Amino acid sequence: MTAPFHAFKVEQFLSELEHGVRFNFSESGVHPLTLKELVDLAEIDMNKIMSTRLDYPQVNGKESLRRAIASFYPGATPEAVLITVGATEANTLVANTLLRDRDNVVCFRPTYEQLSGNVRNNGHEVRWVNLVEEDGWAIDANMLHSAVDDRTRIIHVVNPNNPTGRVLSAHDRALVVSAAERVGAWIVADEVYAGTEREGDVETASFWGEYDRALIVNSMSKAYGLPGLRLGWLVGPEEFITSSWRRHEYASIAASMLSMELADRALAEPARSKLKSRARQLIRTGFDVLAEELGRHEGAFDVVPPQASAMSFVRFNLPISSDDFAMRLLREKDVLVIPGARFGVEGHFRFSSALLENQLRGGLARLNGLTGEILQKS
Ligand SMILES: Cc1ncc(COP(=O)(O)O)c(C=O)c1O
Repeated sequence: MTAPFHAFKVEQFLSELEHGVRFNFSESGVHPLTLKELVDLAEIDMNKIMSTRLDYPQVNGKESLRRAIASFYPGATPEAVLITVGATEANTLVANTLLRDRDNVVCFRPTYEQLSGNVRNNGHEVRWVNLVEEDGWAIDANMLHSAVDDRTRIIHVVNPNNPTGRVLSAHDRALVVSAAERVGAWIVADEVYAGTEREGDVETASFWGEYDRALIVNSMSKAYGLPGLRLGWLVGPEEFITSSWRRHEYASIAASMLSMELADRALAEPARSKLKSRARQLIRTGFDVLAEELGRHEGAFDVVPPQASAMSFVRFNLPISSDDFAMRLLREKDVLVIPGARFGVEGHFRFSSALLENQLRGGLARLNGLTGEILQKS
């Protein structure tokens, strides 16, 4: 019997509603670059790009690109890297490659439910462990302990997390590693927001090298501001990468030839560092504007400041559900945010603030306008 299908609630919300909206605060990345901006920043020779033959690319990914990515993960070889169509495909391949009959997967909530959605759609059990807002979105250690058993195949972490922007503390990282070690589970670490730190320039440490059954997912979409390339990667033990490569041939054959060429240049220094500092700059100034604007209605909003990422998971104290708040914002103010209910947490919305300041202030004035109207009626 096939498992019932679960739609990906966050992505469905985005794909149905975000196009054409005037103030879009629903995306999770920073304001993306244009192709021209990338070409200028990375000093790309367009003549060389223009002579790229639009053939099928190397299926597991261009060798020089895999070599560059491997160098970010000490001890990894190019054979330990698979280039995918975004982190999205990497997450799907992980679920398809690793899971066997009766396995369960432990995931945290709230988080980006892409791996867990694939797991459920493949007919496997997902066990949820809460992240606790009062503790700055730290892991509920007791829940983690009781969720993990000898059928746990994967413990899934998104670090830094979406939608909270939380970076796992050393204590929480150790909890995850010891829980995985106890039962021999894999740690799948989705690290797409590493490099987007808001506080300081120290990059969020990878799970790579911390545990031998770690699989790392990453992409060009967030820290590099290039989601339109649709280019991601999976790093893991070579044998696992070969098995995923077999699934990748079914899923997409390969990522795009042009995207591999552009990613190769974007990940070469100094372009890579420049892209990351651009993202951090947008994230820092954007959050300051958000915090200032959310303070206009005293007591209406509260947020655990994100340590990384463009996103804030804002708690609101208003007599309205998160779905209704988001839909009124869209219909009445042409502003899009994601309701917390899409992450399984009521009374919140996810807001992305790493955008251009005039756009941010314009949309936040409208959000404050609706907030005033709701407060007046209550
Ligand atoms: C945690 C996380 N993983 C993966 C993705 C998908 O990324 P990509 O654009 O690389 O497919 C997202 C997008 O929002 C995300 O937040």
